[in-house]
Amino acid sequence: MDGPQGARSQGAKILPLRRGAPKGVAAGSPRTRIQPPAHAWALVADEMVRSEHELIALLGSRVEQVAEIGRYLARSGGKRIRPLLTVLGARACGVGGDLSRLMSVGEMIHLASLLHDDVVDSAPTRRGEPAAHMVHGNALVILSGDYCLARAVLLAAEEGGHECVRHLAQAVAAMSEGEVLQLQRAGRLDTSLEDYLQIIEAKSAALISWCAAAGAHILEDEHLASRMEAFGRSVGVAFQVTDDVLDYGGELAQTGKEPGADLMDRKLTLPLLYAFEATPGLQTRLEERPPTREELPELLEIVHDSGALERSLAYARDLVDVGIDQLSPLPDTPYKQALIDLATYLAERAS
Ligand code: FPP
Ligand code: MG
Repeated sequence: MDGPQGARSQGAKILPLRRGAPKGVAAGSPRTRIQPPAHAWALVADEMVRSEHELIALLGSRVEQVAEIGRYLARSGGKRIRPLLTVLGARACGVGGDLSRLMSVGEMIHLASLLHDDVVDSAPTRRGEPAAHMVHGNALVILSGDYCLARAVLLAAEEGGHECVRHLAQAVAAMSEGEVLQLQRAGRLDTSLEDYLQIIEAKSAALISWCAAAGAHILEDEHLASRMEAFGRSVGVAFQVTDDVLDYGGELAQTGKEPGADLMDRKLTLPLLYAFEATPGLQTRLEERPPTREELPELLEIVHDSGALERSLAYARDLVDVGIDQLSPLPDTPYKQALIDLATYLAERAS
């Protein structure tokens, strides 16, 4: 069976291609700016503030150069989606007590992975600022990333216990595999949808999935944990698909990136895959040689006109619905509703 409905009935990890998705779905237009659900944040505002303080403390070090990278990370901002998902997921599962330290775990791992990723990608900028390795050099940045990773694992062990840290290690292993798979496929325009989904599920969704399930791991409730993981996995893949759409449609001021960077790199993501399906000759044209800067506006227009962005966003929204279905056994609480709203936002955000 085709599409996310099929994925729902099979409980499939990798979701099949959604053909014939509606074009021109207005609500998720890539140029629409949608704010994070403020009420979801407000519900756990005290813990979000405490968790931010924990994060800043965790980024500190006795070694000045490591502390300097920590200050760079603390300044670099971010929407703190992972702490929010961690606390809402745990509360929705009925976990009580102070979670502010546990909430920092996913964000620390995320920040560490971005330090490493910008070295791997030789990225000159991150969020509109020079990337850390451009300022501090590769060696210091890689080692500081290792430091953040180790501190996060320690924290997960202290705050969450055995199951929590075991699943976190699995998530980090998946992220590393995803990053390697992506590297292997770099510049390969014949990448299939399945390959693309495998990569983003590993490099992006694994950590989001862990955040959603961290509370269930504390409870050592395997059944609940696998549902929360499945929810997080769907939301995580949808989040990355939206990110890949933003690469084609996001304004520089919102994303800190020039639109079309993936196209210039000939990086196969869902929007380009759908654009190939809709535009005869486009794949061959890009396979022949990389586009020039002059060609970029025309190519961006081709992708926009193909309906590929709307189709990708529709895919992400359907995926979020698949994820939300996993939450059905949870009691109806404000935390569950906030989780649903956050998941919906993540598939529709514009920055
Ligand atoms: C961004 O991808 C990168 C990731 C989502 C994960 C990177 C994972 C690792 C480096 C392995 C794990 C390492 C540690 C230290 C936990 P992207 O390059 O597509 O996105 P971008 O445009 O934001 O750079
Ligand atoms: Mg990168």
